[in-house]
Amino acid sequence: IHENRFFKDRHWLFTEFPELAPSQNQNHLKDLMLENKRNEISACRSSEDGHGLTVGEQHKCSSSTLEHTAQMFSVEETVTQKLSHLEICADEFPGSSATYRILEVGCGVGNTVFPILQTNNDPGLFVYCCDFSSTAVELVQTNSEYDSSRCFAFVHDFCDEDQNYPVPGDSVDVIILIFVLSAVLPDKMQKAINRLSRLLKPGGMMLLRDYGRYDMAQLRFKKGQCLSESFYVRGDGTRVYFFTQDELDTLFTTAGLEKVQNLVDRRLQVNRGKQLIMYRVWIQCKYRKPLLSTTS
Ligand SMILES: C[S@@+](CC[C@H](N)C(=O)[O-])C[C@H]1O[C@@H](n2cnc3c(N)ncnc32)[C@H](O)[C@@H]1O
Repeated sequence: IHENRFFKDRHWLFTEFPELAPSQNQNHLKDLMLENKRNEISACRSSEDGHGLTVGEQHKCSSSTLEHTAQMFSVEETVTQKLSHLEICADEFPGSSATYRILEVGCGVGNTVFPILQTNNDPGLFVYCCDFSSTAVELVQTNSEYDSSRCFAFVHDFCDEDQNYPVPGDSVDVIILIFVLSAVLPDKMQKAINRLSRLLKPGGMMLLRDYGRYDMAQLRFKKGQCLSESFYVRGDGTRVYFFTQDELDTLFTTAGLEKVQNLVDRRLQVNRGKQLIMYRVWIQCKYRKPLLSTTS
């Protein structure tokens, strides 16, 4: 409906999901660590005149957290490198020579895909994105930033078990689902997640951000819009489910993935124009495919 006038500022994308641009984040972390070290020195200096001791302590603490995060990235990098020799021997497929593959399911007009292509300048990156709306996919493909040597957009209904993905199993590093799982029938979710899980490389990550139970949008639905528990139909015919953390945990762990993160993000949104205060509840999850997979 909104065509490509729907682009939003996705500044949160790379802070919440550094997996979407790991090397950029590593550099960014190094910059932050350097900056913190410099601040520590200047804070220690200023503590000579009785100020800044607390500031120095705080910086020490945050810089060790950053070092830990940076170590985490280098471990992940080593794992990815070690796994690269196991790379699929399937026929040529789009992005078959890539070393870091990201798949976005329910990509809409590319609000996530284009920021990834802009921010992640790893030469081995390849981004796949799909949506069941051919209009949305066409808008992605005709966007001036669409580069077929780095990206492949395709029409795909991720609940349709008869449709194949254009990539082999165990080949994708990151799968991202942003406000899309909530749009599908609850009884189709598990099989769809199982199929996606099979696409992940061992060590690969499934990332999700979606509506949480008792989000304001849920509380504002009127009688007659509820299709089943926590599942509603909007005025435009689209449907929406509101998840609990446990439900998502069950979906991902049943698909053979391990929890890395499963959190509720509660926010107060104020729309001054419409004089509306909204209590938002979103859930953010990261689940990893174990290095030794237990599912077939
Ligand atoms: C709320 S939008 C989110 C779009 C995008 N992920 C973003 O963050 O901007 C949900 C998108 O999921 C798509 N979608 C819904 N059900 C789908 C399905 N079964 N298979 C593929 N795409 C689907 C819709 O067409 C829509 O573009």
